[in-house]
Amino acid sequence: MRRAAITAVGAYLPPKRLTNADLEQLVDTTDEWIIERTGIRERRILERGKGSAYMAIKAAEETLRKRNMLAEMIDLIVVATVTPEHPFPATANLVAHAIGAHRAWGFDLEAACSSFIYALSLAADSIAVGRVERALVIGSDKMSSIIDYRDRATCVIFGDGAGAVLLEPTQEDVGVIDYMHQADGSGCAFLHMKAGGSVLPPSVRTVRQRLHYVYQEGRQVFKYAVVQMAAISEALMRKHGLSADDVAFFVPHQANRRIIEAAAQRLGFPMEKVMMNIDRYGNTTSATLPLCLYDYENQLRKGDNLILATFGGGFTWGALWLRWAY
Ligand code: UT7
Repeated sequence: MRRAAITAVGAYLPPKRLTNADLEQLVDTTDEWIIERTGIRERRILERGKGSAYMAIKAAEETLRKRNMLAEMIDLIVVATVTPEHPFPATANLVAHAIGAHRAWGFDLEAACSSFIYALSLAADSIAVGRVERALVIGSDKMSSIIDYRDRATCVIFGDGAGAVLLEPTQEDVGVIDYMHQADGSGCAFLHMKAGGSVLPPSVRTVRQRLHYVYQEGRQVFKYAVVQMAAISEALMRKHGLSADDVAFFVPHQANRRIIEAAAQRLGFPMEKVMMNIDRYGNTTSATLPLCLYDYENQLRKGDNLILATFGGGFTWGALWLRWAY
C-alpha cells in the first residue's frame, strides 16, 4: 500500500511581537480579557512590504534543509492561504520560482482556517495514487494585512506566520491514512471579508467603509467550531475504531483556547495530549496546524497516531488521521 508521509516540517515566524500590552494601547481591551477569553498572550506581525510568499519561502527552505533535499526534487507545491501574495498569480508559483523548484506545478488553496488540512489531504491523495512523488504543503498567512486594528473583537485574535510539510511516498504503515471534511456556505454570514472580491471590488468607498477586513460574529462561530470540530473528529475516529487512548496527540486549529479545550473534552483527550501554541502566535489561520507539528516535532515518535482537526470561515471544517513517520 502506498501512502504519503510527512518527512520534514519547517516554519517561519516574523520576529516582531504584538503583545496584549501593545493591543491595550490600540483598542479598549485588557491583557486579562484576552488571556481569559482566548488564551493568547502575543502574536507575530510581518513587516510592511513583505507578504505571504516571503514567509512561505522561508518555511519551505527550512523544510527542505532539514530533509537535505534539493528543491528540484519537488513535483507539487500547494500553498494554503487566505492572504495570497497577489489575487493572482498563485503564491505557490512565486514560492516554486524562489526556492528553485523548477519541475514543480502548484496552486493556492483557500478554505479559510481549513485551507491547510484540505491542502494536505489533496496533496497526500496525489502521492498515494502515484501521480506525484514529492510535495510541499505550506500554510502561510499575513493576517495583519486584513485585520482592522480598531476592531477589538478581531484584532486580538490573529497573527502572522507560516508552516510547511514535505510529503513523500511510503510503503510503511505510516503517513496520511484518512480524512473527513465538510463545508456549509450558510456560515459565510458570520465570518467573511465584505469587499475586494468580484462582487465588491476595491474602491474609495469600500476602503472608506473599512470593508477590506475580517468580519466575524465571534459568538456564533465559537458555537459551531466547538460542536463541528469535535463531531467530525469523533466520526473519523469511530470509523476506524480509534479511542483517545490510541492517539498520541490531538492537533486542533488554534483559534481560541476555550474552543480547543471544549473540543478536547468532548473527545476525551487529556490536555497533555493536545498540541497548543496559541498563547505565542494567536490564530495564524492556514499556519496553525503545521506550526503545531513544528513545535511538537521533538515529542513525536514514529508510529504515533495524530488527529488533526480544524474549523474555519465558510464554514469549512475537517479532521485528518495520520501516523507520524519519523
Ligand atoms: O479561526 C476561524 C474561526 N474563528 C473562531 O473560531 C473564533 C471563534 N470566536 C471566538 O474565539 C470568540 O467568540 C471571541 C474571542 C472572538 C470573542 O469572545 P467571546 O467570549 O465570544 O466574546 P463576545 O463576542 O461574546 O463578547 C463578550 C463581550 C462583549 O461586550 P458586551 O456586549 O458583553 O458588553 C464584547 O464587546 O466582550 C466584549 N469584547 C471585548 N472586551 C475586551 C469583545 N472583544 C473584546 C476585547 N476586549 N478584545
